[in-house]
Parts: sequence; C-alpha cells; structure tokens
Amino acid sequence: MEEIFDIRNAFEICQGNTLEGDVIFRVVDEKDDVLKKAGDMAVTRKDGKTEIDIFSGGTDRRDRWRRLGGRIAAWIKAHAPKSAALDCGSADKRVLLVGLLLGAYEFSKYKKPAEEVPGPLTVVMPEADFNEVKTICDAQNMAREWAHEPASVINPWTLSDRAEAFAAKYGLKCTILDDQQLREMGAGAIVAVGQGSKTPSRMIILEYPGTKAEKPVVLVGKALTFDSGGLSLKSTTGMPDMKYDKCGAMAVCGILRAAAQLKLAVPVTGVICAAENMPSCKAYRPDDILHSLSGKTIEVKSTDAEGRLVLADGLTYAQRNLDPRCMIDYATLTGACVVALGHVRAGLMSTDDELFNGLYASGEKTQERVWRMPLDEDFAERLKSPDADLKNSGGREGGTCTAGMFLKAFVEDGMPWAHMDIAGTAYNMDGSDYYVPGATGFGIRLTIDWLRGL
Ligand code: BES
Ligand code: MN
Ligand code: ZN
Repeated sequence: MEEIFDIRNAFEICQGNTLEGDVIFRVVDEKDDVLKKAGDMAVTRKDGKTEIDIFSGGTDRRDRWRRLGGRIAAWIKAHAPKSAALDCGSADKRVLLVGLLLGAYEFSKYKKPAEEVPGPLTVVMPEADFNEVKTICDAQNMAREWAHEPASVINPWTLSDRAEAFAAKYGLKCTILDDQQLREMGAGAIVAVGQGSKTPSRMIILEYPGTKAEKPVVLVGKALTFDSGGLSLKSTTGMPDMKYDKCGAMAVCGILRAAAQLKLAVPVTGVICAAENMPSCKAYRPDDILHSLSGKTIEVKSTDAEGRLVLADGLTYAQRNLDPRCMIDYATLTGACVVALGHVRAGLMSTDDELFNGLYASGEKTQERVWRMPLDEDFAERLKSPDADLKNSGGREGGTCTAGMFLKAFVEDGMPWAHMDIAGTAYNMDGSDYYVPGATGFGIRLTIDWLRGL
C-alpha cells in the first residue's frame, strides 16, 4: 500500500548545507543579459567534475524560478548524473524548489524503468523552508499520480478504499456513503450519474479537524473516474483523457494531505463526489427528471453535463451536515472553460468578493492563476425547464457561466461559495517547463496559500 502515498520522483531531491556532487549547478540571474535566454547553460569540466551555470534569462522574467527549477530537473532526468548539487544563488530558493520538485515528477509506474537512474540532487537551502515546500509539492505530486491512474484502476469503489487508507495515514476522519445510502438519503442526482456503471456512485467525506475550534472550510471535488458522456456519448476524439475528470477531487485529497501535515489552524473538510459516467441499459437518460438532495428537480438534457449533477448533491450535503464557514468546489466542469482560458487560468466564479479576492491573490502568488467569470442571473434563463425546476444544460453559449449558475442554485443565500472550473488547468498534454504532459495537481498550492492566511 505504501507506494500509493509516497510517490517516487524520477530522482531524489534532498536538503544539504554543502555543495558536493559530480555536477554542480549554479543559478545566474543577470537582469540585463540580452544574450541569455531562460535555461541557457554554460558547462565547464574541472578535475572530473561538471559545473553548470544556468541563466534565469535576460528579459523574460515571468515565473522564472519555477521554470528554471523545471529546466534543471529535466536536465537531470536526461543526463542522469550520479550526484548533483545546486547553488541557488540569488534565486528565491523556495520557489526554485517548487519547480525542481514538480519537474522531477513523472508518471512512470507502468513503464520499463530507465537504464540509468539519476542520483540525488542536493539543494543548499535552510532545512525548515525545504521541508515545508516538499510537504506541499509531495501532496501535489500524489494528486498528479492518482489522477493518471486509468479508470480500470480507480473507480468510485477503489477510490473510496484508497480514501479510507489515506485518511488513516494522515489522521483524517473518513465517512463513505455508498449508492444505497445516497439513494435512501434522497441524493438522486449523484446516484443517477453513476447508475450505468458497474461501480455505482459514492460520496466520500474527509475531515481534518485543524488546531482551532472553528467552522470548517468545505472543499467539494468532482471525481468522475471516467466521463464517457453516458448515453450522450462523447466522440472518439472527445473521450480520451477523461480519466482526468476526477482531478477536482484529487486536488481536494492533496489539499487535505498538506493541511494535515502542515498542521494548519483552520479545519478543512473534503467532500468527494465520485461516479463513473457510462452508457448502459441501466444508465440515466436525456429527459429523465431527477430528484436532487436539495429537493429541486432536474431535467436531464445531456447526460454529459454530469459534473454539475454530482456536485449539486455534494454542495447540499455539505450545507446540511458539515456547517461550512465557506465552500469551494473544484471541477473539470466545462469544455467551454478550456476554450475561454486555455491551460493558462482556471475559471473562478464566486458569490463573495472577499473569498474571490483571497483566492485570486493566492493564485497570482503561486502561479496557479484564476480569472473571474460572471454569475449574472441572465445565464440562469438558459437553465429553465418546462417540466422540472431546472435543466442540466444551457447549451454551448456561455457554457462555463451557465454551469456556474446551475451550481449556484444549490448554494444557500449568504453562504460564501466559490467554484473553480479547472477543465483547462488540471491537465495539459503539451507539458511545460515544470510539468511533464498530463496532470498538474492544479489548485493545491493556491488553496494551501489561501488557507494559511485565514
Ligand atoms: N468533463 C467534461 C468537461 C471537460 C471537457 C473537461 C473537456 C475537460 C476537457 C464535462 O463533464 C462535460 O462533458 N461538459 C459538457 C457540458 C455540456 C454537455 C453542457 C461540455 O463541456 O461539453
Ligand atoms: Mn461530461
Ligand atoms: Zn465530466
């Protein structure tokens, strides 16, 4: 069981106080050097040792330390030195380390191991800073690893087993509601989404008590372990990568892990809404009318607009049972959000300016950036149904905003709530300087930064 929590990176990164190793990296930050691009290297060989000056890059200063950390990690993966050490120079050491730790990760458990494995990298920096950054990035890399597991490995049932083991390891309280209990409770929306699957829906509640007796921040995560679209089946090209439709919930797991390990003051509760959206003779259908936990009825117009259905019941459950001080949901909710913001920013909708501002600021700081999307009542017009209280799809136009308005219908007046549409940022098959192609674990560093300031 151990290896599902302790993700092994492509090489080990450890803290040290002296620069010793076969390869010594030195970060050079010369603002005015127009000849150097970010990541350019100058290599010298001296007495069997390799010294590498790595340049932060003249004028392109955008997110330079994380990106540089990622470049160093990529070099180590490609060249596999027996040992290496890093002189951070004047770099922001903590931010550089983020790039190194995220850059060192890759999803390799199903691949033949490389012939030459790199030895450890020693980073010369204060130990307390190192440990804190590593705790957060390890949680993020765990979320990435779990996100990469295909639906043949992670389904709502195996996810709840994993959550139970995870909770035991990190000292969290874990409650699991199976489809029978959800049905009895009246959570007809989350039940419907999973009813076409061999492994029906589950709701998983993970509670970190915090060190202060306060109301918890409740984080609701979409965990579609696979989204085929259901009877409103996705196309051949639209279906691959839908194992990543559980990334919202994976981020929630990562946040809880880091919160527990860092012993954050504020209590945090995670609500994971797990289902597999499959077509079958038992599947829910377009035109079905669902009874959600809130009491509102929902007419299904597309079985592919399933994320909002599972989240609706999760949000209602949280407000009825968990006494939230505020709620944030994380979901790969709409393709429209990928069209609007690409892989650069997540869409953030909120009923509360203070909550929005806090999350926005933490996003700028951690480079997990968000952009506000509107929640005008006009969008709700598109969700009116002739036969039920609302319908689950408002069509293509304004798809991200109508999805947000759908969720808002399940949030009580006065409850501070934010919805993060991470469809574009949760995974990126192009990769970047510090993310190999695939899951990014988006939302964890941003949320931990924000929780710390509460
Ligand atoms: N999981 C998808 C959204 C998605 C699409 C995430 C592409 C990442 C990449 C979601 O369940 C979905 O299918 N949404 C539909 C909603 C529509 C039917 C109203 C969409 O975006 O097309
Ligand atoms: Mn869908
Ligand atoms: Zn989905």
